Amino acid sequence: MLFQPPLPTEYASLTDDEMCAAITERKQTLGSRAVILGHHYQKHDVIQFADFTGDSLKLAQIGAKQHGVEYIVFCGVHFMAESADILTDDDVKVILPDQSAGCSMADMADIDQVEEAWEFIVYRCGVAPIPITYVNSSAAIKAFCGANGGACCTSSNARAILEWAFRRGDKVLFLPDQHLGRNTAYAMGIPLEAMTVYDPALPTGGLTREQVRNFRVFLWKGHCSVHQLFTTQQCDEIRRNDPDCKILVHPECSWEVVQKADLAGSTEFIIKTVREAPAGSKWAIGTETHLVDRLLRTYPEKSVRLLAGIQCLCTTMYRIDLRHLLWTLDELVAGRIVNQIKVDPDTSGLAVVALERMLANVTATPVAIK
Ligand code: 13P
Ligand code: SF4
Repeated sequence: MLFQPPLPTEYASLTDDEMCAAITERKQTLGSRAVILGHHYQKHDVIQFADFTGDSLKLAQIGAKQHGVEYIVFCGVHFMAESADILTDDDVKVILPDQSAGCSMADMADIDQVEEAWEFIVYRCGVAPIPITYVNSSAAIKAFCGANGGACCTSSNARAILEWAFRRGDKVLFLPDQHLGRNTAYAMGIPLEAMTVYDPALPTGGLTREQVRNFRVFLWKGHCSVHQLFTTQQCDEIRRNDPDCKILVHPECSWEVVQKADLAGSTEFIIKTVREAPAGSKWAIGTETHLVDRLLRTYPEKSVRLLAGIQCLCTTMYRIDLRHLLWTLDELVAGRIVNQIKVDPDTSGLAVVALERMLANVTATPVAIK
């Protein structure tokens, strides 16, 4: 995670109303020079200033189309800003309002560990899986996938990308979210017995050569700290207390939770499902708190609640706040660029291959994993 230096002291005393008024004014001043992108997990006070909102895939698609703007201010997390930098022209500068907005899942796979895993699986075991990385990963890992015949995916097109991979080989190394990998491969008909976890904390990932030769899917031992808070007990409780309520979860939840759910899919799939549901329908949703809260406010004629009884908050998304957004825009208006996220050209040149494969395998509407 990168370090975010403290903001100048004058920002500490500003009220929310003052910051909102100032952000509105700075946006007008910058006009078409700056575009603000916002992930659906952002706080309500921040997302109201986004020119475009979306999940990881939609924001990558929108980011890639931003020709002629000077700045993309990315209200999301670090890996999303990196992808935007990779996918845009060199003269577009991508800015992350708080540099410490990382992703704990992305941090669970380090490029050195991935190279070590590759060395063991490919050179010592003699098998060559197709490397697929969830976009929630560093640019270096995306570049690794691009250089080794692999691709990126998001939760919106993980199945399309795994199908793409299995047209090119009979084994896949899926990074860094074991749950998205397992849930997607299982939905495609691959049995759990054909999958194994590669644990980077153990020598040779905890696998023998024979196991590597026998398994079809190697799931990196990573997870999302938010989605792991949803449990099968919560699903059981909903079934017991409110049998009419449907359970809708994100595929970063565990396989056990996804099996208990009625439906599972990406953020855009969750939004679409609730939007299209009839009035009076009931939904218990297993994903980040701010999105569930927004759905609840947007569709008061439907009953929407969080699957867990506790707040499931992405603390790194939460670091983007009005204060940091205003500071970033103030600096741009003053002609200074702060918090630029820049991927070096060598890494970018390989990572773009993996990202473009991802963007070439997109369905018109988000597809359910279950
Ligand atoms: P999507 O935006 O692909 O649904 O992923 C959710 C998430 O955890 C983003 O970090
Ligand atoms: Fe990372 Fe999970 Fe937060 Fe998404 S919700 S940014 S995967 S920690």
